[in-house]
Amino acid sequence: MPATPFDLVIRGGTVGTATAAYAADVAITGGKVAAVGQGLGTGTREIDATGKLVLPGGIDSHTHIEQVSAGGLLNADTFESATTSAAFGGNTTVISFAAQHRGKDLRKVVDDYSALAARGALIDYAFHLIVANPDEKTVRQDLPELIGEGHASVKIFMTYDLIKVDDEPLLDVMLAARQNRALICVHAENHGMISWMGKRLVEKGYVAPKYHAISHPRGSEAEAFQRLIALAALIDQPIMIFHVSTAEGAQVVRDARAQGLKVFAETCPQYLFMTRHDLDRPGIEGAKWVFSPPPREKEDQDALWRALALGDLQTVTSDHAPYRFDETGKLSAGPNPTFKQVASGLPGLEARLPLLFDAMVSQGRPEFSGRGLEAFVDLTATRPASLYNLPGKGQIAPGFDADIAIWDPARKVTITDALMHDLTGYTPYAGRTVTGWPDTVLVRGEEVVAGGALKGKPGSGRWLKRTGGWAAEPTGRLTADMDPERNFGATLL
Ligand code: URP
Ligand code: ZN
Ligand code: ZN
Repeated sequence: MPATPFDLVIRGGTVGTATAAYAADVAITGGKVAAVGQGLGTGTREIDATGKLVLPGGIDSHTHIEQVSAGGLLNADTFESATTSAAFGGNTTVISFAAQHRGKDLRKVVDDYSALAARGALIDYAFHLIVANPDEKTVRQDLPELIGEGHASVKIFMTYDLIKVDDEPLLDVMLAARQNRALICVHAENHGMISWMGKRLVEKGYVAPKYHAISHPRGSEAEAFQRLIALAALIDQPIMIFHVSTAEGAQVVRDARAQGLKVFAETCPQYLFMTRHDLDRPGIEGAKWVFSPPPREKEDQDALWRALALGDLQTVTSDHAPYRFDETGKLSAGPNPTFKQVASGLPGLEARLPLLFDAMVSQGRPEFSGRGLEAFVDLTATRPASLYNLPGKGQIAPGFDADIAIWDPARKVTITDALMHDLTGYTPYAGRTVTGWPDTVLVRGEEVVAGGALKGKPGSGRWLKRTGGWAAEPTGRLTADMDPERNFGATLL
């Protein structure tokens, strides 16, 4: 009797994982990887992947989608546009933000946001819960319930006037996270330094976009990281430090991890490929490059690449925060805003993976010692899946979801505004030429993008329930081993 065919076989490609690259077919049945190996049986459908790389779909764990920003502005993308753009860029999962603002009820925020995502998303998704109103109900009722329901990460801002959380309420939120085993993600910059610098620069007439970079002193990052790490250590709470931009910041993370503290960190393409000089453009054009923290120096780029290769930083996200270059976005305060009035953020969902692939795989950045492909897969898919407890994601292996991006490693693409599928209207990466681009993207075995055409349907993306505790990779001390009277007094609480 002939064997039952698989639903789909991706045949003749090179499969890339976080540890190896090898010639293999990938068979898919029921939306899951059924087998990986050479000479697999037939599929009802087949994709010829000869000459292609068959990689886990990208996971972008830091994306602002259909969200009101720290400055009170709705960003340019909907779930439909953002996840379309993400899929064209080789991604199969995003984590975006259910963002509470002051005076708002977190439960209602999550319910409303879930409805938007369910209607629009073409790829799978999860949420970080932004807490900006850490009152009794949020901390003692909503957070425990929502974490228990599968929203296993919380995001806090240590800066931005309208949403920042000071040290004491931050500890309240951390304790709620600890007691319910959620990860705390943080935008960590010293608010006072930024606010003080910004006001004085504007008073002196230094208002052009390039002064945004100067208004976020590099020391504001390391200081906030150190304070944050000390707060987290007080209660042995795992933290994820978002968008590391400086060499000193990366060093603080390295030192903390060397002490065995449960500190994780990410950086973003804008810190690997841009410097503060990108903001220095005629007129107000530099507003497109206003994001926080700002890009730094060439030496910082090199330090961040090293930190990625050493494992000090575990993932590279886009921090996609799209604002149009018009009165709805970057220029919402008028045609000639000061840098302080410019909406902070840049689009990056679609360009993230091609930029990284080009640098790590095609150009072979030396930090990765010939293992750029494996590191690319690890940093962009396998590791974020484990850090954020994404079930069945991040690997091409039997039993995992068939979330797959088939890359043409030889395809040369010059990035243009028109190539992007998000609603920002521009990309800060326009004009860069990269080698390597994803041709076909499958989510749970279904084509979302194939041969450059959109196949996915809004609403087909699924919410990913994340339960079961912290990241599967504690860096050091185990909670059970802690001596509460020595250092971690808060474990008595
Ligand atoms: O400038 C940025 N990154 N805007 C988005 C919000 C944030 O800070 O992550
Ligand atoms: Zn941030
Ligand atoms: Zn962000």
